[in-house]
Amino acid sequence: MSLALGVLVSGSGSNLQAILDRVREGSLDADIRVVIANRADALGLERAREAGIPTACVLHADFPRREDFDRELVRLLRQAGVEWVALAGFMRILTPEFLTPFAGRVVNIHPALLPACAGLHAQRQQAEHGVRLAGCTVHFVDEQMDHGPIVIQAAVPAFADDDEASLGARILDMEHRIYPQALQWIAEGRVRVNGRQVVVNGVARTFTGPHWTNPPLEPPFDR
Ligand code: GRF
Repeated sequence: MSLALGVLVSGSGSNLQAILDRVREGSLDADIRVVIANRADALGLERAREAGIPTACVLHADFPRREDFDRELVRLLRQAGVEWVALAGFMRILTPEFLTPFAGRVVNIHPALLPACAGLHAQRQQAEHGVRLAGCTVHFVDEQMDHGPIVIQAAVPAFADDDEASLGARILDMEHRIYPQALQWIAEGRVRVNGRQVVVNGVARTFTGPHWTNPPLEPPFDR
């Protein structure tokens, strides 16, 4: 059954684009019901419109409290028939007002190998720290920032002459692979959360492709 998905964005929406592209080519079995941004200038809204997906813009500044903003998001998502929510560069912390109605059905992508480098500017944190392996993580969302159970991580090399931009681009390329893959596993009903562990049924335990991810990417996400 197709995943009834809502996507929340704040910025460029390149991860949204990767998801849209995989849906269009038929490798991600998701029905994107709505894309919501908290900024009117989010390029992600444009990408969604281009793909014929309904959009909404909810400005957090219009709401006196975080909970009120979250309640409006929930209303719009429910109205659109959304069952799962993917945060794709959505720069707001969600409260229980949002997370309770969508308990266990909200995922996020973070541009670092969590729990390292949580929070803002993760690419810069990694470049400045001189890590040799950087990466990205798809995880379930809980009430703590960049904290919930981990579905998949990808590692990329970091070099001494990397800066935030060059390392960020290498990470982003892997974000665009692992996020649609994680969502497809969810769509296939293969993902189960057990405390902090996420079990993805039927995945391999060894790397076969050129990408360092765990679990390994499956075709066509490995290309
Ligand atoms: C990505 O690096 C994502 O990991 C982080 O915010 C950035 C969003 O990029 N959460 P985009 O809007 O998907 O291009």
